[in-house]
Amino acid sequence: MISVKPLVIIGEGGHSKVVQDIIRVSNEYEIMAILDDKYKSKNLCKETGISRGPVSCAFNFIQSEVNFIIAIGSNQIRKKIASLLKRQNAKFASVIHPSAMISPTAKLGVGIVIMPNAVINSDAEVGNHVIINTASVIEHDNNIADFVHVSPGAILAGDVTVNEGTQVGAGSTIIQGRKVDKWSIVGAGATVISDIPAGVIAVGVPAKIIKEI
Ligand SMILES: CC(C)(COP(=O)(O)OP(=O)(O)OC[C@H]1O[C@@H](n2cnc3c(N)ncnc32)[C@H](O)[C@@H]1OP(=O)(O)O)[C@@H](O)C(=O)NCCC(=O)NCCS
Repeated sequence: MISVKPLVIIGEGGHSKVVQDIIRVSNEYEIMAILDDKYKSKNLCKETGISRGPVSCAFNFIQSEVNFIIAIGSNQIRKKIASLLKRQNAKFASVIHPSAMISPTAKLGVGIVIMPNAVINSDAEVGNHVIINTASVIEHDNNIADFVHVSPGAILAGDVTVNEGTQVGAGSTIIQGRKVDKWSIVGAGATVISDIPAGVIAVGVPAKIIKEI
């Protein structure tokens, strides 16, 4: 018999919709509550057995068997909410689509979302609260730090390092051995052939810095 664990989802935007679909197909968790600040009243309302309310209601659910997933695309907001929940000893779940291919030697943190058809190859390390989006490829020996978002269809070749909070844009490529430092953005469709420093936006083929964030 499969035991289904209780889960609270933080965020109810577009990214959360996809996360909810994965939860439904993977049959690992039962959604107890979806919390989003679009709900103003502190009174949790119940719809189809799932409670809804503002994010501050999360503290009502913190107990040993309840898991949390922060289903918010913004790396900054994910980090802020994760820090608040962690201080209260919340437990984080990872949500992984059954079609994702994950090497048995890959090391995964907590609170991760891995979308359909994503690949994480040998000895790659993926930090906490990372999003590995649809059909993206994390090759062998990558090091992906906390709060990174690898967007759909991005390809990270072997030995790539992506530091905290960086967004790797949809359909972009980072060639082997390169490093993108923290809180930067690699634009959609870019090809990174040299290291990218912290806090910049880089676009194009080959990727060039267009501004500081
Ligand atoms: C790179 C990015 C963050 C830039 O956003 P921005 O700061 O708002 O930049 P702007 O739209 O003002 O564009 C600035 C310049 O960069 C160019 N540019 C923007 N994005 C580009 C891209 N991906 N590739 C090539 N050029 C790009 C614009 O054409 C513009 O050029 P110009 O000054 O010659 O007119 C954004 O365009 C992007 O690619 N985001 C990634 C989106 C994504 O992958 N989302 C996945 C979500 S799941």
